[in-house]
Amino acid sequence: MDYSSKLISLEQALAMVKSNDQIVTGLGAAEAGAFMENLHTIADRVRNVTITNCNPTHPSKVYDSQYVDSFNVDGWFYAPQLRKSHTNGNMSFIPNNLHFAATKRLDYVKPNIYVGAASMPDKHGYVSLSLSNTYEMRMIEAADLVILEINPNMPYTFGDAQVPVNDIDYMVKVDYKPPVVTDAPFSEKDTVIGKYIADMVPDGACIQLGIGGIPNAVGEYLKTKNDIGVHTEMMTNSMMNLAKMGVITGKCKQINKGKMVTTFALGLPELYEFMDYNPAVAIMDGCWVNDPYTIRQNDNQISINTTLEIDLTGQCASESLGSRQFSGTGGQADTAIGAQMSKNGKSIIALYSTAMVKGADGEKHEISKIVPQLMTGAAVSLSRNDVDRVVTEYGVAELRGTNIKERVARLIAIAHPKFRDQLREDAVRVGIIGK
Ligand code: COA
Repeated sequence: MDYSSKLISLEQALAMVKSNDQIVTGLGAAEAGAFMENLHTIADRVRNVTITNCNPTHPSKVYDSQYVDSFNVDGWFYAPQLRKSHTNGNMSFIPNNLHFAATKRLDYVKPNIYVGAASMPDKHGYVSLSLSNTYEMRMIEAADLVILEINPNMPYTFGDAQVPVNDIDYMVKVDYKPPVVTDAPFSEKDTVIGKYIADMVPDGACIQLGIGGIPNAVGEYLKTKNDIGVHTEMMTNSMMNLAKMGVITGKCKQINKGKMVTTFALGLPELYEFMDYNPAVAIMDGCWVNDPYTIRQNDNQISINTTLEIDLTGQCASESLGSRQFSGTGGQADTAIGAQMSKNGKSIIALYSTAMVKGADGEKHEISKIVPQLMTGAAVSLSRNDVDRVVTEYGVAELRGTNIKERVARLIAIAHPKFRDQLREDAVRVGIIGK
């Protein structure tokens, strides 16, 4: 297919942006990298352009304080650049459960421009949205102008993320490499937590692994399992490894049998290569994948996520440190609720019992991540009504259906021993439990 009439230069794409535009770009590796890295070059001629993004991975000067009159940034999931620039004042977080991110946003505002990453066109005249369809297709359908950066380095993925070239207004040919996310080496705590979790995952279970160090490490401990399935928000390096080893077959799934269903992927170049033209991987609409009513359709669905802080009643603050936005809810609540609706499903929140945090004296101090009360201003990502099992290196606390008194006891039992007495005292002092 001849698509040359759709090809434009990056400068031509940037020239189409005007003041007050609402631009949406893709999530993570589906972000329009060249566009975002150069958008600041038009700062002099535009005012009040809004860019909505999610866990951006490309460096961009639009976040810098010198461009605050030209650009606003609305984020569904903060990444380090957004955290750092938040105080500039032109940046704000959009609270969301990921499966509603697109639809609720569209109820509020329609994009003029969608700009995102894509594969090269195939012989049938389609491009693949490649590494994310979390909200991208919905935004493409709603936008007045669609510009895709077609890139031979982006894998062509299956699922429902293919767009006919005829539906794209313009394409910019680029050749940067997709962002690489490496895994931290496993710690001793990961080993202990991984084993607790592996004991809760039966053969034939269907898994979701969340973002962060611990969920990713857990994959390592599932190597002895059989016929694991995947219905997840994020496809990880560990899932690729398990699939290559034959641990993941998807044979026991009730929906999308044999397919690893995901809404986005972030990882190593090997992961992107694995996903390229791989019929076993389906990148599908995040509004559908992360809907708890979809998730529940696979039996033995097990969601594994992590949190920054949990209080003694089970509220998980997974996206903020006090009022400071750290990341986003993402699919934490979606996947935890969906897993508990699934037959024999479980939702797991895994965290280290402590964190090392810089104090007022400039020194690092060990604090408990299990606390009587969340930090002032903390956002609750997973409500105590929806929390199920909590795992630390000291064991598993089963909270489903329990009363507050039982929760306090069970959570203190998996706290670091040196904080347990204080937690008990505090639980009474602040009135969570009686004496
Ligand atoms: N108090 C203060 N600081 C804390 C803390 C606490 N209770 N807990 C962690 N921190 C600090 C850590 O020390 C670390 O600091 P550093 O960056 O200076 O090293 C930082 O916060 C991040 O903690 P870490 O545990 O390394 O984070 P992670 O990369 O493993 O990510 C979450 C953990 C919770 C932020 C991440 O999983 C998340 O955003 N979850 C919400 C979304 C989600 O679960 N989606 C699921 C579907 S994909």
